[in-house]
Amino acid sequence: MADLKIKIGKMLWKNPVTVASGTFGLEYAELFDISQLGAIVTKTITLLPKPGNEPPRLAETEAGLLNSIGLQNPGLENFIKNDLSEYQKFDTNIIVSIAGSSISEFGEVIQELDRQPEIDGYEINISCPNVENEGIAFGTDKGIVHNLISHLRKITNRTIIVKLTPNITFIEEIAISAEKAGADALSLINTVYGMAIDIETRKPKIKNGIAGYSGIGIKPIALQNVYKVAKVVKIPIIGMGGIRNTNDALEFIIAGASAIAVGTQNFVNPLICLEIIQGLEKYLDEQKIQYNDLIGSVR
Ligand SMILES: Cc1cc2nc3c(=O)[nH]c(=O)nc-3n(C[C@H](O)[C@H](O)[C@H](O)COP(=O)(O)O)c2cc1C
Repeated sequence: MADLKIKIGKMLWKNPVTVASGTFGLEYAELFDISQLGAIVTKTITLLPKPGNEPPRLAETEAGLLNSIGLQNPGLENFIKNDLSEYQKFDTNIIVSIAGSSISEFGEVIQELDRQPEIDGYEINISCPNVENEGIAFGTDKGIVHNLISHLRKITNRTIIVKLTPNITFIEEIAISAEKAGADALSLINTVYGMAIDIETRKPKIKNGIAGYSGIGIKPIALQNVYKVAKVVKIPIIGMGGIRNTNDALEFIIAGASAIAVGTQNFVNPLICLEIIQGLEKYLDEQKIQYNDLIGSVR
């Protein structure tokens, strides 16, 4: 049977398949053995609890999903008190996704989480606005990304994964900046901006108007971002955006991703990650190729 083990920063994953932040909860444990995943990524956690945006905040479109959840989460203290021990029951890598509104807030969250055992890594969600820079999103400015990741690198030895936004002209600049500042891995992509309108009410289908677009419609966008970034960094990439099956996952790996994450498709088929793990094994056996040789093998 094909060997799917892969190193992401300081973590050893038993296979290259994980879930995208915000699209997966531990209630899935009723449906399958979550320990079979290469890693689990939590919903993004912030220092203080966030109620999220006003509904409606989810809308299906012709080819994907719009969401404007607004980083709803219980806050760091409640997460540690109530949720973390549940994650720690599983025999896989635990990656806590975090966000903050300033560099010091990100640092505070990591400092506290570093005291908790059995967290293997952090995914730094830099799509949130930075209050110290007039609300400009962290992930759109290479200087801010450098300062943020350098600061976090000094605080923790655990694996730092930086999650990039596609809503920018030169994603390569941001990727290089994160790598130089000490990131161990990158994940891409977060959602693309999107919108849908109800023609009867003439109101946007999402209360906030503009939302994050995910699912099959963004796959080509995500894939070209992974392809571009893989050419300019040496650290591993976790690819995501519209992955619905093994073939989609293979496209990301061939484009240069060392691992993949499934997001929106978890809502359609909660067993999809397991199916992809099995599908990758089958493909490698049939093609008689080692997993590592497949990564970035696009011709
Ligand atoms: C309902 C929903 C909630 C999400 N919440 C988060 C989040 O909290 N943090 C984050 O970094 N990304 C979040 N995302 C983005 C996903 O992690 C992923 O980057 C994106 O959906 C693209 O992958 P997909 O097309 O497979 O869904 C969310 C996406 C959806 C659909």
